Amino acid sequence: MYYKKNKYFFEKINAISVAKEFGTPLYVYSYNKIKKNVINFKNYFKSFNPLVCFSVKSNSNLSILKIIGKFGLGADVVSIGELMKVLKAGIKPNKIVFSGVGKNSKEIEYAIKKKILLINAESVEEIIEIEKIAKKRKEIVNIGIRLNPDTDAKTISKISTGKKEDKFGVSEKKLSEIINNYKSSKFIKIKCLSVHIGSQITSNKPYDMMLKVINRVINKIKFKFEYIDLGGGMGIEYEIKQKKLNYKNYCDSIKNFLKKNNSKIIFEPGRSIIGDAGILLTKVIYIKKTRNKNFVILDAAMNDLIRPALYNAKHRINPCDKKGKYEKKLHEFVGPICETSDSFLLTKKYKKLKPGEIMLIHDVGAYGMVLSSNYNLRPKPAEVLINGSKPIIIKKRQNIRDII
Ligand code: LLP
Repeated sequence: MYYKKNKYFFEKINAISVAKEFGTPLYVYSYNKIKKNVINFKNYFKSFNPLVCFSVKSNSNLSILKIIGKFGLGADVVSIGELMKVLKAGIKPNKIVFSGVGKNSKEIEYAIKKKILLINAESVEEIIEIEKIAKKRKEIVNIGIRLNPDTDAKTISKISTGKKEDKFGVSEKKLSEIINNYKSSKFIKIKCLSVHIGSQITSNKPYDMMLKVINRVINKIKFKFEYIDLGGGMGIEYEIKQKKLNYKNYCDSIKNFLKKNNSKIIFEPGRSIIGDAGILLTKVIYIKKTRNKNFVILDAAMNDLIRPALYNAKHRINPCDKKGKYEKKLHEFVGPICETSDSFLLTKKYKKLKPGEIMLIHDVGAYGMVLSSNYNLRPKPAEVLINGSKPIIIKKRQNIRDII
C-alpha cells in the first residue's frame, strides 16, 4: 500500500477506483501485507519456533481467517462464535487456544468436544466448571492457567490487562493453590501458563518485567509447564516515527527465559498481524467552515471505527489523491453521528478538500470492523480484499432494509 505520483495504491489498484466500484465507507485489506506481517512475525522468533495463534478478536472476517490459517497460524479465540468460525475457516483444533474470563458451560463443553489445544482458564471458579464438564464427559482436558503478573504494560489504560486490579488471570498465590489442588486431577491436565499484559505495547520493558515475573513464579512453584503462552500485545506504528517495539530484544529476552525453562512458546498476536494491512476508505460529504476550523464531514463514523472515540486513538487520515493546494487552518475530521466524540482527528495544515473526495483512514485492520455497530441505524460497511490487481468482496455492505 503506497503512494505513486500522489495517488494511493493498494497493491496494483488505485484506491479511488476501489471506492468507486464498492462504495464507501469501505474496509480494504491487502493480502500481501498480511502475508508479509505473518512471515516477519515468524522470522523474528524463528530461533525457538513458537506456535503463533492469531487473536481472532482483532479481525474475524472469514476470508481473512482462511488466509491466516493457510499461512500456518493457529487461533486465539474468546467465544463460541469465534471458535466455530475458526474451525469453519479450516484452522485445526490442535492450534487453537481459548482465552477469556467468562467462558460459560456451553462454550467450555463445545471446546472440549472439539479437542482444542488449550482452554486457558482465568479463575478457580472456571476450573471447577471445566473439571465438572470433563468428568461428566469422562475426558481429560488440557488447560492453561492465566497468571496476572501485576505488570504495567504502559499502554492505554483501557487496554491494559496485566495489573492486579484488572479482572484478568489469577494471582501468584492462587496459581500455586490451583497447581497443588489440580496437579493430580483425573480430568484436568495443567499444561500451560499463560499471560497477556495488554495491547499496543511499544516498549520492551513491560515484556521484560513480565518474563521476570513468570520466571520467578515458576521457580517458586516448581511445576513444569509444557507451554508458556505469552499472549499478544505487540504495538504497531499508528503515527510516523512513533516508538517501536524491538522484536530482536524481545526475542533475546525470551531465549534467556527458555534457557532456564524449557517449554514451547505460544503467542497470540492480533494487531501486529492485521493492523496495518487494513484501510478505511471514506468520502468527504461536506466541508463545514467555521471561523476557527474546518469540519471535514466524512461518510465514515464512530459506528464504523470506534477506536478514536473510545480510546482517543490516533489514525492517520490522508487524501487518496495528494495533489492540490494546502491550507493552514485547523481541520477536524468527523463523522455524521450525533455525538461530539464522533471525531477522528484534529490537524493543522491540510490539503484543500472538496466534497466527494476519497480519503484513507490508516491502520484499521485490527479492532476496526469487529468493533463496528449499527449505532444511529447506520449499516455496517463492506470489506474488500486485494491480491495484486484483483479486488474481491469478502463481506457485503449491510443492507439498510435488513437493519430496519
Ligand atoms: N490475547 C489476549 C488474551 C487478549 O486479550 C488480546 C487482546 C490479544 C491476545 C491480542 O492482542 P494484540 O496482539 O492484538 O494487541 N480494542 C482494543 C484492543 C483490545 C485488545 C484486547 N485483547 C483496541 O482497539 O486497541
